[in-house]
Amino acid sequence: MRSGSDTKRELGESFKKILDSASAKGAIRPIKKVHKLLYDAAGGRTPYSDKDSTQLKSGLAVSPSGAAACLLDYERTRQFVRGLNMAITEARKHFHDEVIQVLYAGCGPFAPLAIAQCWTFSPDKVQFTLLDIHETSVDIARAIVQSFDLKRHCPRIIKADATKYKCQGARPHIVVTETMMSTLMYEPQAAITANLAPEMRHGGIFVPEEVALDAYIEEPPESGHLDGPKRPLGLVFRLTKDTRPNAKIKSEFALPAVKSKKGFENLLISTRVRVFGNIAIEPDTAEITKSLFVTSFDREDEGSLVAMEYVPGDTFLKYVMQGDGPFKETRLAFPAVRSEFTEGQLSFRPK
Ligand SMILES: C[S@@+](CC[C@H](N)C(=O)[O-])C[C@H]1O[C@@H](n2cnc3c(N)ncnc32)[C@H](O)[C@@H]1O
Repeated sequence: MRSGSDTKRELGESFKKILDSASAKGAIRPIKKVHKLLYDAAGGRTPYSDKDSTQLKSGLAVSPSGAAACLLDYERTRQFVRGLNMAITEARKHFHDEVIQVLYAGCGPFAPLAIAQCWTFSPDKVQFTLLDIHETSVDIARAIVQSFDLKRHCPRIIKADATKYKCQGARPHIVVTETMMSTLMYEPQAAITANLAPEMRHGGIFVPEEVALDAYIEEPPESGHLDGPKRPLGLVFRLTKDTRPNAKIKSEFALPAVKSKKGFENLLISTRVRVFGNIAIEPDTAEITKSLFVTSFDREDEGSLVAMEYVPGDTFLKYVMQGDGPFKETRLAFPAVRSEFTEGQLSFRPK
């Protein structure tokens, strides 16, 4: 029979493999192992049929089961674990070896981004405050912390709304949150960033450091190719710790000349998450960086103005096209929101 310390060692080894992985493919097995160990430690709670998400004004808070399934978005998990590790090391240097306080907003039931760090840093180097809006997630996170004897690393576990939460006592050196869908639609990453970035100490690090949405053109692929050539069009929106709350962002582009022999091209929006330093989740490598198709256009549309409007937390990203014809406003949406994902629906398997 395996003892608690065997399981703790296995969990630590799996996280170490994720930290050392050179590619998403190399992280699949250890992430699956971590998922299983945490799922077992939670006593099999977080059934995948649970749809208990909460609709806030600023976006949808994913259900405990949806949050648990996010662990299996491999490149997302790998780069957040690695980026936060690097951010803690940097904060230790910057803040002259103070005990680094990390506020983890939206920890979900498994709190994986914090738990991952507990084998690299002792509790006199880093401590986490785990926070989630869902009681079930907070309860399970508490049970996991208890079960792996990590109470000194994670002394505070709080149920609160991160879009409103104000820090009591010492301010964090780092805030980490992953509460986003691709193109920052549906979920409250922008509102949480705007609320919690000012709560940090001066010189604090917000993880992710930047989420950038860019418009680009893609030519239809030639036969025998999966993707067509891509050309950048311009920035739609950038979220950093300095982005002000409730900013309604509008960007405008003129549609360029069509180059494709097929006579039409596609307009899309990419998402790139720079977690920390040079650790990034590139477009179309994870669920949270899937590109969003906006529209196709042909030679008749060349020079037409396209205006895009991003409202943080809105269910839709809107765009309007101004050509010679009638003014057209369209709302873009992904077919599924992440709270409804099940393990099998996470489609991004690294190549
Ligand atoms: C996508 S899951 C991420 C879970 C976990 N951090 C991970 O990386 O696997 C997002 C989590 O954020 C929580 N959340 C979303 N909005 C929140 C809010 N306003 N306040 C607190 N928690 C929130 C959800 O309940 C959910 O557990």
